[in-house]
Amino acid sequence: MKKYDIRKICCIGAGYVGGPTMAVFAKYCPNITINVVDINKKRIDDWNSNNPLNFPIFEPGLDKLILSFRDKNLFFTTDLEKSISEADMVFISVNTPTKTKGVGAGKASDLKWVEASARQIAEFSKSHTIVVEKSTLPVKTAETIKNILSSSQDISSVDKKTFSVLSNPEFLSEGNAINDLQYPDRVLIGGEDESSINALSNLYLNWVPEKKILKTNIWSSELSKLTANAFLAQRISSINSISALCEVTGADIKQVSKAIGMDTRIGRKFLASGPGFGGSCFQKDILNLIYLCNYYKLDEVANYWKGVIDINNWQKERISKIIVNNLFGNVSGKKIAILGFAFKANTNDTRESPSISICQDLIEEGAHIAIYDPKVENSKIEDDFKKLNKINFEQCRVNWEICSSIQEAALESDAIVVLTEWQEFLYIDWKSLINSMRKPAWLFDTRSCIDHNKAKNVGFNVWEIGNSVSINKY
Ligand code: NAD
Ligand code: UGA
Repeated sequence: MKKYDIRKICCIGAGYVGGPTMAVFAKYCPNITINVVDINKKRIDDWNSNNPLNFPIFEPGLDKLILSFRDKNLFFTTDLEKSISEADMVFISVNTPTKTKGVGAGKASDLKWVEASARQIAEFSKSHTIVVEKSTLPVKTAETIKNILSSSQDISSVDKKTFSVLSNPEFLSEGNAINDLQYPDRVLIGGEDESSINALSNLYLNWVPEKKILKTNIWSSELSKLTANAFLAQRISSINSISALCEVTGADIKQVSKAIGMDTRIGRKFLASGPGFGGSCFQKDILNLIYLCNYYKLDEVANYWKGVIDINNWQKERISKIIVNNLFGNVSGKKIAILGFAFKANTNDTRESPSISICQDLIEEGAHIAIYDPKVENSKIEDDFKKLNKINFEQCRVNWEICSSIQEAALESDAIVVLTEWQEFLYIDWKSLINSMRKPAWLFDTRSCIDHNKAKNVGFNVWEIGNSVSINKY
């Protein structure tokens, strides 16, 4: 069997996956040179900044890694041609969002960035290159990549280029990425060419125990990634559906989650009820799964998974309605403080954040929204509002503001809505906050992360997800 010696790696895509993943590779593979490339020059400049606060991604522990290995064996560059041509192994780590137009719009993944990457690899690579799918892709994408790579070969050339394609999906979750990458539950490598599989596996063996490295055929690997995300999202929709039942029956969702999670067959993780799952992947990957099922005429399977997304959308709408109903059915002209805009704590990512659609609903109802998030940049919030379909950005610009503190957001507001479980929200001085608010003052805790007794004791009316007894009307 051939043995490939990997000395240089190129990662196409310096985003939430490419950046952290390659930082961890750089730590554990000190003898390998890693070039992370991106077409977005600003992103690359930000990764190369001397001030970690300018890094494009906030992820606990990432700044230390970047500062330790950048310009030693980890490089961020826009020089795609050079990086690919020198690489023995190229990771494709580009975005694969849901298509917005054309065939499969609203469901299929848009693979134009993956295809562009494959064409760039085909053009610039030299000799044998191992191409690794790191992006989450529909089953059978490896076939497309192989086709592009093989059709690029110039048969008249003496230096014949050869390729092998592997699937190595990433399972990191944002906010915990460095830990997930250093201590993964498993590393999945799908492929046909044993020498290439071993070459990739040997890199991981620098820090991952052998028993955690799972080798499968390429289609199982691609499908396992979509399935893992679908299962995780399904648990959230399941617990969120029960949260609504708790609110009308007197049960408490935290107690129910604990009770069912202690059953080892169910497990305790991913049972926290909230405002609905966000993030760039759960919805996109389920939509992709649905598209695949429809394509293979498995409509019942497609409908089953569609239910997970339907419940998620319903949960977000349900929360908007609860806020409006509790504020006497009218929020017009009222100020509502939104605490948290990221889709979860410990990330500055807002993609598909439940905060976006809940803010949109409240603005549509006439409320004035005051947003505070400790890590999300103002420009990102503006961009998210610009993309909204229900409201006109220019017309509604006066209906929302971005604040630099909890106190500023809460000042003269009628309600506080906690939408992200940031740690600093757990230590709010409710007494001083309520003094600056209009009365009756409301607290809506969609994450069930606040000590409600403290808020109630100083006079708040409190609504908590999945808990009917939390309201304390003055
Ligand atoms: P991202 O948008 O943060 O990063 C992708 C980067 O690729 C962008 O900076 C973009 O400019 C760059 N890019 C696109 N086409 C390029 C090209 N031809 N050449 C060079 N650069 C190019 O996306 P992400 O969150 O890192 O996700 C990447 C993939 O990983 C997706 O398929 C996603 O589903 C998957 N994934 C994401 C996560 C996550 O937590 N974000 C976790 C696991 C898997
Ligand atoms: C998720 C998966 O957890 C990763 O394994 C996967 O690699 C990644 O998607 C991906 O493919 O992109 P991520 O979206 O970063 O990771 O974060 P999660 O922790 O999974 O949270 C997703 C959403 O579900 C968040 O909005 C979070 O608040 C919500 N959630 C999570 C709940 O509402 N309840 C829970 O119990 C857990």
